[in-house]
Amino acid sequence: MSRQYFIAGNWKMHKTRAEAADLAKTLVLQLKDGKHKYLVAPSFTSLETVGAIVKDTNVLLGAQDVAAEEQGAHTGEVSVLQLKDLGVQVVILGHSERRHTYKEDDALINKKVKLALKHGFEVILCVGETLEEREAGQAEVVCESQTLWGLSGVSAIDLAKVTIAYEPVWAIGTGKTASPEDAEAIHAYIRKVIARVYGEESAQKLIIQYGGSVKPDNVAQLMAKENIDGALVGGAALKSDTFVPIAQFS
Ligand code: PGA
Repeated sequence: MSRQYFIAGNWKMHKTRAEAADLAKTLVLQLKDGKHKYLVAPSFTSLETVGAIVKDTNVLLGAQDVAAEEQGAHTGEVSVLQLKDLGVQVVILGHSERRHTYKEDDALINKKVKLALKHGFEVILCVGETLEEREAGQAEVVCESQTLWGLSGVSAIDLAKVTIAYEPVWAIGTGKTASPEDAEAIHAYIRKVIARVYGEESAQKLIIQYGGSVKPDNVAQLMAKENIDGALVGGAALKSDTFVPIAQFS
């Protein structure tokens, strides 16, 4: 089955509104004839600015996280209702920096996944093992558990709005990329887990992105693998010089 490639840029905690606007304008121009699916996820503070630039283009607007509650006394949090109001279409959840630095557990991430889907967002659910877990031979088990927990209670219909991003923690921001073969092995495994729960057809349709030091010079080899359907890009997404070649790989 041929799946559409999905290339997403996670800008993390970078860029003022003016800087974000500059990058968004360049991307919209340079990717307008691109043949893949595209997303940029700026900081909350730049969502409105970037949203106005990518509106009605082939670049989707994403948020990097969302609160697990709809609204209320949650100082410092941002709700699904507020993201919807800004025109956000996709929410990235369970990023390794949320899991490890901010101690988000699978139950919390699952709550966010369900709430985001209920409000009509697409979700990118990130999963991935640490170096310690990989060295202990636990990579598959960890990814399986994060995938199943993250999607617990998600219907087959809602699964169509979910992308899984496999991001080995040891490859994020480190310059170390998983080899295309190692990444492919985990992607194939995740697809098998999804097939077991949701059936083969849903599993074949599922987009599974790879993330972790994706660069212009390694993207094509990764994307050539059968079960790798896109990329979630951090560092290289901060400049059009590096993001555009990734987004336009062929
Ligand atoms: P990186 O980040 O491309 O800088 O490794 C990827 C990510 O965190 O999504």
